[in-house]
Amino acid sequence: MFGKGFPFMNSGGFYSHAIESRRPGGYTSKVRVRDRYNIVGFISSGTYGRVYKAVGKNGKKGEFAIKKFKPDKEGETIQYTGLSQSAIREMALCTELSHANVVQLEEIILEDKCIFMVFEYTEHDLLQIIHHHTQPQRHAIPAPMVRSIMFQLLNGLLYLHTNWVLHRDLKPANILVTSSGAIRIGDLGLARLFYKPLNSLFSGDKVVVTIWYRAPELLMGSRHYTPAVDMWAIGCIFAELLSLRPIFKGEEAKMDSKKTVPFQRNQMMKIVEILGLPRKESWPGLASMPEYSQLQSLVLHRQPSHFHRGSNLEGWYQSCLKNGGYSSTSSAGTPGADGFDLLSRMLEYDPSKRMTAEQALEHPYFTNGGPISGNCFEGIEGKYPHRRVTQDDNDIRTGSLPGTKRSGLPDDSLMRASKRLKE
Ligand SMILES: Nc1ncnc2c1ncn2[C@@H]1O[C@H](COP(=O)(O)OP(=O)(O)O)[C@@H](O)[C@H]1O
Ligand SMILES: [Mg+2]
Repeated sequence: MFGKGFPFMNSGGFYSHAIESRRPGGYTSKVRVRDRYNIVGFISSGTYGRVYKAVGKNGKKGEFAIKKFKPDKEGETIQYTGLSQSAIREMALCTELSHANVVQLEEIILEDKCIFMVFEYTEHDLLQIIHHHTQPQRHAIPAPMVRSIMFQLLNGLLYLHTNWVLHRDLKPANILVTSSGAIRIGDLGLARLFYKPLNSLFSGDKVVVTIWYRAPELLMGSRHYTPAVDMWAIGCIFAELLSLRPIFKGEEAKMDSKKTVPFQRNQMMKIVEILGLPRKESWPGLASMPEYSQLQSLVLHRQPSHFHRGSNLEGWYQSCLKNGGYSSTSSAGTPGADGFDLLSRMLEYDPSKRMTAEQALEHPYFTNGGPISGNCFEGIEGKYPHRRVTQDDNDIRTGSLPGTKRSGLPDDSLMRASKRLKE
């Protein structure tokens, strides 16, 4: 838990003493990356930076992932305007956070106007694991493994929420998994404190939460971020672990030339197709949401039957269990009726009624049915493939320019990655 020294956000959303010396994971000066680590390859190029695999040298043991932050880019000109907001956020938060289910920061190195954040290396992530289960044919992730993943994930999220941190970008690619089956919530680049924010948390960011995992209140134009936004994403991830497909796979409406934020009609439709229309009776805040008229126009223009019936989540869940071969007699086991109840409480339209991380951890899905392993791979036969590390670009000094594709996942996942916001 944080002590009094937690940095406060100023009006620009920055932290005033983000890079003070701290232990563990504090800022280290006068250290060069290549004096401490051997880069073994390139892992990924994401929204804000490039990630490399490295091993410690000169007596330093272990494998690491080094995230190099790109310099700020204005149009086509690359400017060294200082530290990006994302890097500062991630540094400020990761420096203070310490929990078994949140990725552990080893150190921060500043060198040649670049920021290198050194993390413990994780062999897998949930995107990769889900992908593995679709190859060569679909085969369900065993129910005890899903239960362990969800339990650890919720423990990490409870820790973040208890410490007034919202993640805001939870999705399978950002959930890291170690080779010993520990779940680590990663990518705190969009995370933000929600304790007495000076600005509305809506301001400032163009990109918040990948659209498939975006909560309905955000789609309806809510400007208030609450922990419920993360819980919606966790519900979507739970569904995806069981079905091996994103549950609400909408297409994003792009911002128009006037830079007005569009109503995400297609994404909302995907949710409505499974959950039915949100209703004022069960979500009292709905009628006063900025996009309420858009929701009504959606009803007027289209009249398919799913608009008029209630939720079909149970039908979705039952066919998902059937297709996945989950049953009480199968070797994969089953998440059962408790799994459905938990899912439905996380995918609750009204954010004030949506289950919290704390409540979820006490749900019968976890409290019934025996112990939960802290190693999600326990009892699992067969190995998951190692993270793909390429040699195309393992020069950490030059590989800084934006725009290089993420390596690692072929076919479906790459397509998904390109559809995902700026990933
Ligand atoms: N600690 C780590 N160990 C191994 N791979 C990692 C680690 N952290 C991130 N990665 C890989 O790099 C990708 C991008 O990292 P991430 O922190 O999510 O940054 P971005 O903001 O670019 O999305 C992740 O999806 C994952 O595949
Ligand atoms: Mg990421």
